[in-house]
Amino acid sequence: MSAEKNIIIKQMEVGPMQNYIYFVGDQSTSEVAVVDPAWDIPFLRQKAEEDDLKIVAAFLTHGHYDHADGVNELLALYDVPVYISEKESDLYLPHCRNLTKVKNHQKIKIGKINIECIFTPGHTPGCQCFYVPGHLITGDTLFVDGCGRCDLPGGDPHAMYDSLYNVIGKLPDDTVIYPGHFYGAAPTATLKEQKKTNLFFTSSSEEEFLSKRMVI
Ligand SMILES: [Fe+2]
Repeated sequence: MSAEKNIIIKQMEVGPMQNYIYFVGDQSTSEVAVVDPAWDIPFLRQKAEEDDLKIVAAFLTHGHYDHADGVNELLALYDVPVYISEKESDLYLPHCRNLTKVKNHQKIKIGKINIECIFTPGHTPGCQCFYVPGHLITGDTLFVDGCGRCDLPGGDPHAMYDSLYNVIGKLPDDTVIYPGHFYGAAPTATLKEQKKTNLFFTSSSEEEFLSKRMVI
């Protein structure tokens, strides 16, 4: 399937942990979802207004506070659904209205663009990525030249291996990844590049991956 031409993906760095928040949506209707509303909601509102974008949903890659602590502030401004994986641990579910649980491979329409939720557990049980052909918002599953830690409550390095190699790794190599933090040398990269340079994406076996993930 060819890359979606009308897509908006706007990447914004916020907060003290170098989080990336995204607007993802449809240029033809100017409707967007906010991915991981956290840290600075007035800034997000300003950015949406500057670009004449209409916020119609919130997407959560997972429930960690540095990705979700602005949900209620966002909802005070925009009465929108908040989509989270049905697999997310109760530990990490935000306390907010409009929380809507999604299933693996469920598609959510923003404007005329279908955005697919792809479950990628490992960092938390309910981590998910958001996919439109050519683009993958990866949250804390995959960073440019890194991957999410697996030693926090609910973390599972075996699940992370499966998510990286058997889920994300099966997507087309020219897919651009959009991570949840600015931890790498660049804000984005292609899967093809990551399969060459990312320490966690260049293991020849699950054992090798586990030995790297659990010592770093
Ligand atoms: Fe996280």
